[in-house]
Amino acid sequence: MERIFVPTPESQSVTARLSRSAIFLVATINPEPAALGTVKAFLADLSGIVRAIRFRDVDADLSCVTGIGSDAWDRLFGAPRPKELHPFREISGVHHAPSTPGDLLFHIRASRMDMCFELAAQIMVRIGSVTTIVDETHGFKYFDDRDLLGFVDGTENPVGQESVDATIIGDEDPAFAGGSYVIVQKYLHDLPKWEKVPVEQQEGFVGRKKLSDIELLDDVKPSFAHNALTVIHDEDGNQLDILRDNMPFGAIGKGEYGTYFIGYARSPSRTERMLDNMFVGNPPGNYDRLLDFSRAVTGTLFFVPTSAFLDEVTPDGPAPAEAPAASPDVAPASHGSLAIGSLKDED
Ligand code: HEM
Repeated sequence: MERIFVPTPESQSVTARLSRSAIFLVATINPEPAALGTVKAFLADLSGIVRAIRFRDVDADLSCVTGIGSDAWDRLFGAPRPKELHPFREISGVHHAPSTPGDLLFHIRASRMDMCFELAAQIMVRIGSVTTIVDETHGFKYFDDRDLLGFVDGTENPVGQESVDATIIGDEDPAFAGGSYVIVQKYLHDLPKWEKVPVEQQEGFVGRKKLSDIELLDDVKPSFAHNALTVIHDEDGNQLDILRDNMPFGAIGKGEYGTYFIGYARSPSRTERMLDNMFVGNPPGNYDRLLDFSRAVTGTLFFVPTSAFLDEVTPDGPAPAEAPAASPDVAPASHGSLAIGSLKDED
């Protein structure tokens, strides 16, 4: 049966469900100009690589979101560029959020770590010789979606259409509609220090009950609770959401216990406002007490183009942003197929 042609660009699997396993790979592209052609050729092939591995166990829901850093965008594609793409802004408040290098992000998710591992390995087969991995974090689901501080993490994430509305760029940047922005930060926890804090006080820091995950009532929730500082609104009072897919990670022998924060949003300014509230405080000084126990060691911002954009990349051709595929009004005509079902989740 002939496939129906839908004239909208396909978003990557930004809104995929929280998974049991994930690998977060952040790489820089080596300086030699020839590296760019290798990366571009790979980007165009990536959806096919994901399809091949995904097909080996479709129930494992393998997905990969690829992000491009600000400098890398200029080197790979030039103009036009996504309106709000810029390097991660370092924050020096009560606590420090560093800005660390990263040209490419691969957020690989599946219910099986072996599927994630295979995809990461196959990515490096293609670009390992022209890139340097600056961070590789293997995340795991910890009981009922808890972080290593013992709290359920992800409860208030937007779902369904709301998650799309929170993350996918629309008319505000028509040339890049269907894309998204993502900020990642790797946090290391001081667990011995955290475990000395009475549970009731921990609950005040998070803003939720530890065992039941029920939100604290407003009259007992401190103004510095994590979920007080990260709830933000626009000038009309509408809540501005982001979509998080944080994962615990660690290495017992090294005493390393961490949370990998990953937040998708249609505008990075949402996540940046939350970060300011956490690190500087709102009002300044009323900062997020989780940071007394959690140190950010990385911080990087990426643009997530559509799958159609990536599929159209050519090693030395014009930047695909100038091609019709990136516009929401024009169908990506050159594929012959839409790549529907390649990367995007159903929900
Ligand atoms: C050490 C790192 C972090 C940990 C352990 C952590 C943990 C949590 C937990 C346990 C919750 C409550 C359950 C939930 O609704 O998901 C939460 C909520 C939330 N967090 Fe974080 N978080 C971290 C970093 C961040 C960062 C860096 C941001 C944004 C820049 C952020 C944004 C949010 C938002 C928006 C909510 C939902 C608030 C609400 O609507 O109630 N978190 N986080």
